[in-house]
Amino acid sequence: MKILGIESSCDETACSVVEDGKTVLSNIVASQIDEHRLYGGVVPEIASRRHAENILWVANAALEEANCTLDDIEAIAVTYAPGLIGALLVGVSFAKGLAMSAKKPLVPVHHIAGHIASNYISHPDLEPPYLCLVASGGHSHIVEVKDYTHYHVVGRTRDDAAGECFDKAARTLGYEYPGGKFIDNAAKTGDPNAFKLPKPKVQGSKYDFSFSGLKTAVINTVHNAQQKGEEICREDMAASFQKTVADILTEKTMLAAEDLGYTTIALAGGVSANSGVRAKLSQECEKRGYKLYMPELKYCGDNGAMIACQGYYDYIAGKRADESLNGIATLSLDKISE
Ligand code: KG4
Ligand code: ZN
Repeated sequence: MKILGIESSCDETACSVVEDGKTVLSNIVASQIDEHRLYGGVVPEIASRRHAENILWVANAALEEANCTLDDIEAIAVTYAPGLIGALLVGVSFAKGLAMSAKKPLVPVHHIAGHIASNYISHPDLEPPYLCLVASGGHSHIVEVKDYTHYHVVGRTRDDAAGECFDKAARTLGYEYPGGKFIDNAAKTGDPNAFKLPKPKVQGSKYDFSFSGLKTAVINTVHNAQQKGEEICREDMAASFQKTVADILTEKTMLAAEDLGYTTIALAGGVSANSGVRAKLSQECEKRGYKLYMPELKYCGDNGAMIACQGYYDYIAGKRADESLNGIATLSLDKISE
């Protein structure tokens, strides 16, 4: 069963054809990042315009590369939430038009559910239930994946998302947007113990995150040094920062796994590409005898394959949308599981 997946929630216009929720037949991603980089972040209006310009050729390219036509497609899956509303609406409107004209079922997919599903592509043996750490540019969640379409968010960020924190720390160190991968690269040659950075304490849920204090600590350390005319070693700060984030994410995930009785753990979202986070989580899971699943690097960032993959599971669970489908900027995973 072939599903066409459409993703346009942020700054990537992406379409993919996936067979039976695991075999990727095509995965086309048109990134706008070079343009947004000029402004130091994603400009929503530009994102919507570029999606509108790109979506048709990206969808055609995905069908072509998969060597199929719309006739071969069983259903059309589209990200409808969460994300930039104007950006989401381009994908949703396009998918609705396509589904209506081709008389195909339309399946609404939650972006974070898509990120989680990227693990099924790389690891067909992974089956719920398991615990998933989702760290992206907009979200940091610890999620109980109860089955392929039901989730319970047990931990979330109180302020910045992990990816956002990477990007802000990177900007302070003079790297381009989005700076996560530059920090990752610089950290390889830095000393992770050079700077002592805070691990913020969060009142309330013991699985919740907070990254704003860490971000501020990096900014203050760098600015104080600049005011004194001192040079900060970027590699050392990158390594210290990355280690702190990896520790925070891993500690909370291990705590939740222990308390809730999970021995199967997964990682997802853009930050899952980070080598420090992957290494720390692997190390701690191995220590405890937990099985860890991580997406291949090509499926860590936003892509259409993860949406087609989750779309397959949503489709067989009976989820459908009609022409009234709208984009939703903010929508918790818990809400779609009710
Ligand atoms: O999941 P994603 O592609 O988009 C959202 O749904 O938000 O995540 C993008 C985030 C950005 O903040 C980016 O800097 C971060 O993922 N990222 C990384 C790495 N690659 C991407 N952060 C740390 N290390 C990386 N290697
Ligand atoms: Zn994403």
